[in-house]
Amino acid sequence: MSDNGGSPSTSNRVKLRTRIAQAMHYIDDESGAVVPPMMATSTFARDENLELRKGYIYARYGTPTVHILEDILSELEGGQDTMVFASGMAGFAAVFETVKAGEHIVAPITMYFVGLTWLKRICEFRNIRMTMFDPAKPETLAQAIEPGETKIVWTETPANPTWEITDIEAAARLAHEAGAILVVDSTCGSPVTTRPLELGADIVFHSATKYLNGHSDITAGSLTTRENNDLWKDMCEVRKLSGSIIAPFEAWLLIRGLRTLFVRFDVASKNALIFARHFENHPKVEAVMYPGLASHPQHDIAKKQMTDGFSGMLSLLVKGDYETAKRVTLALNTFIPATSLGGVESLVEHRKGVEGPASQTPDNLLRISIGIEDVDDLIDDMEQALSLILDQR
Ligand SMILES: Cc1ncc(COP(=O)(O)O)c(C=O)c1O
Repeated sequence: MSDNGGSPSTSNRVKLRTRIAQAMHYIDDESGAVVPPMMATSTFARDENLELRKGYIYARYGTPTVHILEDILSELEGGQDTMVFASGMAGFAAVFETVKAGEHIVAPITMYFVGLTWLKRICEFRNIRMTMFDPAKPETLAQAIEPGETKIVWTETPANPTWEITDIEAAARLAHEAGAILVVDSTCGSPVTTRPLELGADIVFHSATKYLNGHSDITAGSLTTRENNDLWKDMCEVRKLSGSIIAPFEAWLLIRGLRTLFVRFDVASKNALIFARHFENHPKVEAVMYPGLASHPQHDIAKKQMTDGFSGMLSLLVKGDYETAKRVTLALNTFIPATSLGGVESLVEHRKGVEGPASQTPDNLLRISIGIEDVDDLIDDMEQALSLILDQR
């Protein structure tokens, strides 16, 4: 983790941190307000020649509040264009709606469970071919890609819920050599620490419900592209036709959330590292999965591409079975037992219980989203829950 002094890349980040805190130095032309307006309208009046006044037609195609948000995200990711959706899954769907019957895609075996469920469904219904790779075994990615055939390589890094890391530079090279594009789900990395487009990815995806917004009060998704090319235009068409755009109020809340992204992510990352180190060799814990630990099998890649913290996401394997892990979850008082991640409050999930029997997630895994609370309170809470449940057995 770097501090704010030093290398050229760090000073660029300082600049970005300042720009984002000020929502790109927003000042309203007419009033001088330093916060953008929330413009809730479904349509836009034409002028005396029936021409569009400022290019806006209808809210399903775009509104001023959404455009302000999209410009902020393009700057944050270093991309040419951004689309924001009503949820992460709506953005995810827009990517794969561009794949036609018979075309080939590649995806990891470890990724957000609902995304994988959705992919399997469209592959079956639309006759799309999919090959999976194991992000824990990087050589399987090259084996999964079919040169000249693969259209999209999708990866998630760090990957839910076991936090494998994909080397984005290497994955982009492999995808491009085969004529495919690389799309990176960077939800758990966040642009604070990972900038996939600078590492060669073509599109970066976020469940903006998570770190980008950070306050657990909206769902949203974003796609940002390195190049405004034909495939990107096709994805824009999908959003326009399907009506999956984010609404103005949610966009406004997301702009507000983004202003504190850097400070929230910094504190969550620092807390998570302290928490992970505390439980790493704990007698009641089988393993801690966290890319910030030197014991993580891909820690070196994480260090290379996660320049400003390893995020607040980690998993604990408790010593015990499915039932034990569930009972530890219920014995926690400060952690909130809830789905989702990347908010200011710490959440815990017994992931296998949530994903169901088809899931490959270990029975004893607790997925933890560390927030911005006092980390000592979080450690004390987990200590008391582990003691309460494991000492009883
Ligand atoms: C890594 C990741 N990608 C995608 C999604 C889907 O996003 P949403 O829930 O905003 O639709 C999630 C949601 O948990 C996620 O964790």
